[in-house]
Amino acid sequence: MNVPFFDLKRQYNQLKGEALPLIEKVLENTAFSGGPFVQEFEENLAKYNQTKFAAAVNNGTNAIHLGLMALNIGPGDEVIIPANTFIASAWGVSYVGATPVFVDVDPHTWNIDVAAAEKAITPNTKAIMGVHLYGQPCNIAGLVELCERENIPFLEDNAQAIGATYNGKVVGQFGSMSFTSFYPGKNLGSFGEAGAVFTNNQEYHNHIQMLKNHGCNVRYHHEIIGYNMRMEGIQGAVLNLKLNYIDGWNNKRREIVNRYQSVASNKLVFQAAEPNAVAVHHLCVVTTENKDEFLKYLDENGVGYAFHYPIPCHLQKAYAPLNYKLGDFPHSEYLASHCISLPLFPEMTDEEISRVCEVIAKY
Ligand SMILES: Cc1ncc(COP(=O)(O)O)c(C=O)c1O
Repeated sequence: MNVPFFDLKRQYNQLKGEALPLIEKVLENTAFSGGPFVQEFEENLAKYNQTKFAAAVNNGTNAIHLGLMALNIGPGDEVIIPANTFIASAWGVSYVGATPVFVDVDPHTWNIDVAAAEKAITPNTKAIMGVHLYGQPCNIAGLVELCERENIPFLEDNAQAIGATYNGKVVGQFGSMSFTSFYPGKNLGSFGEAGAVFTNNQEYHNHIQMLKNHGCNVRYHHEIIGYNMRMEGIQGAVLNLKLNYIDGWNNKRREIVNRYQSVASNKLVFQAAEPNAVAVHHLCVVTTENKDEFLKYLDENGVGYAFHYPIPCHLQKAYAPLNYKLGDFPHSEYLASHCISLPLFPEMTDEEISRVCEVIAKY
């Protein structure tokens, strides 16, 4: 039996009976861009995330971009981020003309190393952005304490961790702002592109709402130079529906990863959790010393896999002008060359989960 790494079609098939009439409703109301379905989603999303505000935007990359603009971060400023993340964590920093300052990750949690972040602080540091990578909360307590001491904002890239908790509270409410993505493959995925910015700060929220809407609150009254980064009505309606399911899906992801972990060969290393953190496992990444041998074994046994992420941010060609080099961040580099993501999605069948368990147990 073959087990796919991921199959997005299954969730669509489960939901289409409910989703298609909602989409039709959006179309019948010609609520194509922004509008009532998006507003309703913003309210429900803010409640879910336990923040005062949620600004719905057209993707997670732009969520970060607009958030940094609202924080008035720009040329000459630096933002500290982990080297082991999806590159979009860094794009927003570059878009506003600031410099991403990469730091290494903790060798066990694979999330930003707080001591490394502290060492990277300069007089130009304007924020530290933690990423809850693969759905595993980073060391929020350490970062909050450091940012308070330095009097700079702590930001959360929550694109992979919607619904994960830290000290019993969902992540994405600890930072001055947090950013999420509803890219279709995410735990809470849209039927297209979408994202959001969370904050408890009314001023930041208003600024982002204006920026995403051509710089106006009142039509054709453009108070600032803005963008067109509104969420589409269809995405608001679909995400509103999916919000009802997210906790169940996240529980299923945890159950699957627990099963993998309880049987896996000791040649496979899993991501460690911070104390008091409960992950939502956007991905189930493992490392192993002999990656090629393990991949061949997975191929022979029909188990799908992927790599997240094969090149750390500091070694991406796009950031060559920043002059980082191989050896700068050994833990991130080790992960990039040894990571393998195992099949993980809530719609996996029991047979598929058992098959992956059997294969990884025998390795
Ligand atoms: C950690 C992280 N940050 C930011 C993003 C950007 O989100 P989007 O793809 O919606 O632009 C993603 C997802 O792609 C992500 O995984």
